[in-house]
Amino acid sequence: MKIKAISLSLVIVVITLACSQKTTVSAKDEIDTISNEAKEVMTRSSESISAARTPEANYNEFCASCHGAKMDAFVDRKWKYGSSSEALAKAIKVGYEDDGMPAYDVTFNDQEINELVQYIQKGITNVELYKFESESKDGIFETENLTIKLDTLASGMDNPWGITFLTNGELLITEQSGKLFKRSTDGTLSEISGIPEVKSAGQGGLMDIEVHPNLENNGWIYIAYSKPDPADKKQATTAIVRGKLRGNSFVDQEEIFEALPYSSRRHHFGCRMEFDNAGYLYLSVGDRGNRDVNPQNLDNHCGKIHRIFDDGRIPKDNPFVNIPGAMPSIYTYGNRNPQGIALNPVDGSIWENEHGPRGGDEVNIVKKGINYGWPVISYGINYNGTIFTEQTESEGMEQPIMYWLPSIGVCGMTFVNSDVYPGWKNNVLSGSLRFKYLERAVVKGNEITHREKILENIGRLRVVEVGPDGYIYVGVEEPGYIFKLTPLARS
Ligand code: HEC
Repeated sequence: MKIKAISLSLVIVVITLACSQKTTVSAKDEIDTISNEAKEVMTRSSESISAARTPEANYNEFCASCHGAKMDAFVDRKWKYGSSSEALAKAIKVGYEDDGMPAYDVTFNDQEINELVQYIQKGITNVELYKFESESKDGIFETENLTIKLDTLASGMDNPWGITFLTNGELLITEQSGKLFKRSTDGTLSEISGIPEVKSAGQGGLMDIEVHPNLENNGWIYIAYSKPDPADKKQATTAIVRGKLRGNSFVDQEEIFEALPYSSRRHHFGCRMEFDNAGYLYLSVGDRGNRDVNPQNLDNHCGKIHRIFDDGRIPKDNPFVNIPGAMPSIYTYGNRNPQGIALNPVDGSIWENEHGPRGGDEVNIVKKGINYGWPVISYGINYNGTIFTEQTESEGMEQPIMYWLPSIGVCGMTFVNSDVYPGWKNNVLSGSLRFKYLERAVVKGNEITHREKILENIGRLRVVEVGPDGYIYVGVEEPGYIFKLTPLARS
């Protein structure tokens, strides 16, 4: 019945539009300014006013083109004119012509406007989910099924970006500014020398660090960083070097990956790394802020996840090795800025999480040759609230298995592959930079079936890993800390 009413009114609107002989306006182009023609198009005819209208139908018809089908433009916003019911009602009724917000006083009566206000207020409660009240007491956090104690392993760094574990219980920590630290088992931090020069600007710097699965025998340690262009230091790219530790020096260095092209933009470098069970190295490169060129074209490395051998060679069965002009290391494309990659211990699959723009952080399963759609499809919108795509799905483009709206600034990812935490085995953990917590998600096959926010207010959570001892370690920034999570018995 409801559907019928909506489609009936749609028909009426289409007819009205067709008869009005005005050009219909694309919401994309019209976001900043609104022409008089458009205003007329948005004014409802007397016939459709007589049809029963839900606020949902009104929203979809009159507002969604500019404010997003899922209220994306409202979900996350800093209200310009206030968030009270009165302020919203006023905006709708009289508009803000100079800003491009049309007036709807000729379209809706007061009751309809009030219903729309309520509809919007209900729709944006999403962001309220992240307003945590709780502060932890003495580093103790209660979760659904465990009490967790936090121990500080290291502090004093600025922005710890990546952590990994040596075979003797020592910990390696990258700091974004370009320093690498080793934490000895007695807690002392020493700086490792011989690290390549990094361009530490914007989101770049020293990034992920990973050890070879066979570290014990070959000593290889992998470091991802933003590498300055030797010919033009204003430009940088994501590169991966491997080397070995001799005392406190990083030696025997070999560059095994360099993303092309270099760019002077300072964001979306990626770069997380993970080995799978067969020994392939997966690594992410962000779109480098060039979303319209990079992610959907195979002739560059950006906006992709790559698969290479441990020494940088290209596997012959990579999906695009036989396509002329395509970068042979590409394993998936249409990615925006993946900030977490993790090996699923149950089936050996590789998972990733990546940043959407405003809204639309995603979790994906990394599958050979797949296009994840950025920026053609997205659940997000531009940071300024404008829409860049109305498509959330399209043929030939993979849907995320989960997305966050609003964006949590997802960062770091790992599966709990140990028995240390009763009830958490094979859960996937993702950090939130923006809302400062860790998300625990229960995985059944290819689905996430339950999610819990833990470690609320812990700090901007950059990295989460499970060590060889089965314990979870997290790194937060501003100020930098590395914590170890210990489950306590519940009385
Ligand atoms: C043509 C595009 C467009 C359409 C259609 C549109 N708006 Fe807006 N709206 C804007 C712009 C632009 C602003 C200015 C605020 C901003 O910069 O985001 C705005 C502002 C608002 C505000 C005030 C936000 C604040 O920050 O205080 C509200 C509330 C609002 N719109 C509700 C609606 C509702 C409800 C509808 C449908 C009946 C609607 N708008 C239709 C473009 C549009």
